[in-house]
Amino acid sequence: MLRDVQRILIDRSRIARRVEQLGAQIAQDIRADLERHGHLDDNGDAAPDRVILIPILTGSIVFVADLIRHMPMKLSLELVAVSSYPGKSMESKGVSLRSDIPQTLAGKHVLVIDDILDSGQTLLSVKRLVQEQNPASCRLCALLEKTGKKRVDVNADYVGFQIPDEFVVGYGLDYDGYYRNLPEIAVLRPEAV
Ligand code: IMP
Ligand code: MG
Repeated sequence: MLRDVQRILIDRSRIARRVEQLGAQIAQDIRADLERHGHLDDNGDAAPDRVILIPILTGSIVFVADLIRHMPMKLSLELVAVSSYPGKSMESKGVSLRSDIPQTLAGKHVLVIDDILDSGQTLLSVKRLVQEQNPASCRLCALLEKTGKKRVDVNADYVGFQIPDEFVVGYGLDYDGYYRNLPEIAVLRPEAV
């Protein structure tokens, strides 16, 4: 597996530091939303069932696992499966939803989380489905964002790192289902793709 890596773009300690910052910032912002809506309990924690994180499978799993451990508040996860890069493709083939969006988001504070913001189709389609339900708030978070990429009309509220328009793997991101377990974010050798 490591032989297939051409170069490491972001190493694990930089990822860890940034994810910690993001978690703290997101938690602070959600807490402010909760307060504004009167959704805090007597102890200052989120009232039950108010904060819902929606990780987009499969690429966001490693990121989300680390991120939520920097968000000390009452929250729950609702996983959504979306496929846009079937098999060995490296270009988005349009978004297909592989599971239902939970239908219980009215009045909730929702954070949609993906591994990477590329064409933007994935986050835009999930955001629309969430917003149809009138959540109290809906924010988008992506670990990575490709700069200079043509994108549909969507912005992430939180981005971990801006990266050049290259195909990357690791820390949850895959090529043909592999390399998700690489602890760093890396570019593959041309021979490996
Ligand atoms: P978008 O819908 O084009 O923004 O694409 C987002 C999805 O495509 C992400 O959820 C990723 O799974 C996948 N993707 C986009 N760029 C890359 C990449 O460089 N490496 C691995 N997966 C990617
Ligand atoms: Mg993927």
